[in-house]
Amino acid sequence: MDGAAEDEITLYRNQDDFNRYELIPRFLVDVKDVDLSTTVLGADIDVPFVLAPTGMSRLYHHTGEAAVAAAAKKAGTIYSLSSMATASIEEIAGITDGPKMFQIYVWRDRELLKQFINRAKAGGYSALCLTVDLPTAGNRERDLRNGFTVPPEIRLANIIDTLKRPDWLWHFLTSPRMSLANVRDHATAAKNLFNVIDYTASQFDPSVTWPDVDWMIREWDGPFAIKGILSVDDARRAVETGATALIISNHGGRQLDQSPAPISVLPEIAAAVGDRVELILDGGIRRGADVVKALSLGARAVMIGRAYLFGLGAGGQAGVERALQLLTEEIRRTLMLIGCKSIKELEGKYVRKR
Ligand SMILES: Cc1cc2nc3c(=O)[nH]c(=O)nc-3n(C[C@H](O)[C@H](O)[C@H](O)COP(=O)(O)O)c2cc1C
Repeated sequence: MDGAAEDEITLYRNQDDFNRYELIPRFLVDVKDVDLSTTVLGADIDVPFVLAPTGMSRLYHHTGEAAVAAAAKKAGTIYSLSSMATASIEEIAGITDGPKMFQIYVWRDRELLKQFINRAKAGGYSALCLTVDLPTAGNRERDLRNGFTVPPEIRLANIIDTLKRPDWLWHFLTSPRMSLANVRDHATAAKNLFNVIDYTASQFDPSVTWPDVDWMIREWDGPFAIKGILSVDDARRAVETGATALIISNHGGRQLDQSPAPISVLPEIAAAVGDRVELILDGGIRRGADVVKALSLGARAVMIGRAYLFGLGAGGQAGVERALQLLTEEIRRTLMLIGCKSIKELEGKYVRKR
């Protein structure tokens, strides 16, 4: 969960580049009631953060995606379900009637895409997210060094680590076997997760280009986000294609190492297309102050990945709720300390580059 691609330079910069900006406060402003609510992808949300799609959440806690979706509903925000999740579109629809987004990749099989779109519509998902930064899998060397496999296996290399976590081990051994719940039926020959993963990898299509995205947007016919934008060129292209929101993201540093941190490219993308599309910054958010900086530089909201996954690993649904609560409190406190009473009023004057 905490690892990334190759030398993890991008992973480090995602957080560190927030430190290139400082917050400039204004005082003697009435901040008795601060407003954190906003509208993203057609959904009214209580906090300016959305929960990012993360695959296979049951690796971290046996309650997995279901726990995260329930916590998102309580916090009053959008839960994004990954197509690589260990819970199905329908299971999550049954758990929360809160705003939900389903995330897809660029699959080879249009029939599968159509089925995903129909299932997400039937399940009441409010938005669709296309992740574009995975024409091939990133080189996650930490996973190789650690002997990480899917599903996890208890081996000599990790036995001490595993034994130190008896609660995790107990649930791992006694819960139903993990599977990629949304694709398992399509991998007809697949009896276990290994085969489903191989099948899924064979379905990624590195030849997909913008006209295919145009087709997806028309098929979905609702709020549509494109995730993985890092350049002004792609931002312009995504807007022309008809995206509702751009998620400025490098996949949490897990794909192209040495790509820029989202916070560093946000100002130029905001200047180019910020008045024509919703911008969501994704990557490196660990503190409320990070959220305030992103919104001041032109983002409408942010997405968080590891910040809630750490909570999930530590304490299931209660852990995620606690993580979301801490972040919310930090955003509120930071707003009060800079003298701004609504996230919608955040603008460039509150941040300065060091
Ligand atoms: C364990 C893990 C699994 C992820 N799985 C997916 C996924 O299935 N689909 C996707 O679009 N992004 C995936 N991501 C990327 C996240 O959606 C998000 O971009 C990233 O976590 C943001 O960075 P942060 O963790 O610093 O907040 C994953 C990230 C992590 C850490």
